[in-house]
Amino acid sequence: MAVSGRAGSVSQHLACLILLAFSPLAPAQDLSSVCEHEDYPNVGDRLEIRDGETVYRDIRPNNTHLWFYKNEDVITMNQPDQYRKVIINLEPCRGVVYLFVRKTRRCYPNPYSCIDTRPGFERRDAALCRWTHFLSEIDGSRDGSPTFFEVPLSSTKHFIAVYSPDNSAYTLTILADIGRFPRPGSNGRLTARQLSELQVQLSWDAAGFIPEGVAEAKQYWVYSSMLLESDNRTNMAVFLRPDKIMNTVCGLQNNTDRQYTIVPADQCSNGKCNVTIDGVLTDKRYVFNVVAESTTGSHRMAYAGLIMRTDWEVIRQAASDRTLRVVGAVSGSVLGMVIIIYFLMLKLYG
Ligand SMILES: *[C@@H]1O[C@H](CO)[C@@H](O)[C@H](O)[C@H]1NC(C)=O
Ligand SMILES: *[C@@H]1O[C@H](CO)[C@@H](O)[C@H](O)[C@H]1NC(C)=O
Ligand SMILES: *[C@@H]1O[C@H](CO)[C@@H](O)[C@H](O)[C@H]1NC(C)=O
Ligand SMILES: *[C@@H]1O[C@H](CO)[C@@H](O)[C@H](O)[C@H]1NC(C)=O
Repeated sequence: MAVSGRAGSVSQHLACLILLAFSPLAPAQDLSSVCEHEDYPNVGDRLEIRDGETVYRDIRPNNTHLWFYKNEDVITMNQPDQYRKVIINLEPCRGVVYLFVRKTRRCYPNPYSCIDTRPGFERRDAALCRWTHFLSEIDGSRDGSPTFFEVPLSSTKHFIAVYSPDNSAYTLTILADIGRFPRPGSNGRLTARQLSELQVQLSWDAAGFIPEGVAEAKQYWVYSSMLLESDNRTNMAVFLRPDKIMNTVCGLQNNTDRQYTIVPADQCSNGKCNVTIDGVLTDKRYVFNVVAESTTGSHRMAYAGLIMRTDWEVIRQAASDRTLRVVGAVSGSVLGMVIIIYFLMLKLYG
């Protein structure tokens, strides 16, 4: 039977936006004493990330990386309100990473104020996160999923902390020219249909851009990977699990030998794209996913991903009915379904 479905929720999520009020620093206070956590041995150096840049890093358990982003570009700052935004996209390649952002002034966010991973003292409480304007979901329910923020560019400076409770790797991208960023069509939904014993057709809606006209989709990277029977998802918010992430650009790169193929965007018609994947085996589970790439800046974003069991079944010996046998002989996935329902009806009414 054909399994056509979508992989649960959107690949990215706008995690809870928490605005915490802090009293301004008294002028006399010394930053190094107030921002003491920035100097813990498991907190990295303060590094700058430039606009449009994507950085890749490994991170060890209970460590924090500090990133500083500054936007003094007059053009982006003078955009109309609805486009004067900044995208902050944190994608785990492996493991679990949380994003914490503070605007305007130091300190950097302090993940240790709200996350304690010591056995017996475990605590995760977003409301307690100090120096934090917004952050990922830290309660564990989305561990292994990306954090995508698109927030008003109301400040020229952003202080960013990336924390990992685990051995992880991540990419971080910051982009104020939001029109360059590809946004997967229909919230990243994919559909798959088995065409024959060895073939699956994968379809998706073309990526869009907001605002339009800055960039276009250049091409789509298509990934296909067979799953083991034991490969299952943590929950519907995560695809698949922290040690096998299949809905981020680097997770797909790291969990597959290479892409199955690349589909140029001009092969899509009327906003619909498809590709035929050959060589699938019957009665196996596969994960499929697609990554859109933009013309300007080569920014990439993954779709939501899809798991499908290939179940090509030709009914060789049908009951006494000749039409059934004929249909059965040419049937595959979709027709197989029809036939089974027909059998059921025969049982019910026959
Ligand atoms: C994590 O790091 C913080 C700050 O350095 C430290 O207080 C805490 O004990 C560490 N937790 C674990 C489990 O090592
Ligand atoms: C995931 O796979 C393991 C190993 O096959 C199995 O024991 C476990 O019950 C599965 N979990 C779910 C939620 O299906
Ligand atoms: C994982 O992906 C990153 C980013 O694309 C790449 O730099 C890195 O070499 C990859 N690592 C492995 C083990 O494939
Ligand atoms: C698949 O894409 C091709 C162009 O690449 C198009 O001609 C064809 O109609 C598409 N098929 C479906 C079922 O959308």
